[in-house]
Amino acid sequence: MNICIITGSTLGGAEYVGDHLADLLEQQGHQVQVENQANLADVCDQSLWLIVTSTHGAGELPDNLKPLFAQINAEKPDLSALRYGVVGLGNSDYDTFCFAVDEVEKALNAQSAVKICDSLRIDVRNIFDHEQAAEEWLPSFIDMM
Ligand SMILES: Cc1cc2nc3c(=O)[nH]c(=O)nc-3n(C[C@H](O)[C@H](O)[C@H](O)COP(=O)(O)O)c2cc1C
Repeated sequence: MNICIITGSTLGGAEYVGDHLADLLEQQGHQVQVENQANLADVCDQSLWLIVTSTHGAGELPDNLKPLFAQINAEKPDLSALRYGVVGLGNSDYDTFCFAVDEVEKALNAQSAVKICDSLRIDVRNIFDHEQAAEEWLPSFIDMM
């Protein structure tokens, strides 16, 4: 299958997780496109997205993911053919824990995209191996692909 991994990251953590998931999916024979600075034109022809994003600021998307979601919210494309999953990294010391995941879900659902499995929210406060946590979640995404 073709999978588009879209990362939102400030310090690199979510990007590493995205790269790890890309490696695992490729090992299983899938075609993976990784976008670390996505805009809508780059990704709109892909029908399966895996978004891997941290949360920054006061519960905001990282700067490299903001343009894509600003475009989606402004242009309101029909995403009814799109299926997606989300992996979030955040720190539960913030009361805006993993709010970027909620923002992604809200924006995509509003354009009729379909979430295929429960999102993963990795709490970096007490989970230190983020790649491993995402790897353990991955089958729930693959099963529904
Ligand atoms: C300035 C700053 C603001 C943050 N704000 C939040 C937040 O609002 N909610 C949250 O869950 N985590 C927050 N975090 C924690 C990051 O999401 C977490 O450290 C994550 O692992 C960073 O991943 P990245 O390297 O991909 O950016 C914040 C971290 C920093 C440094």
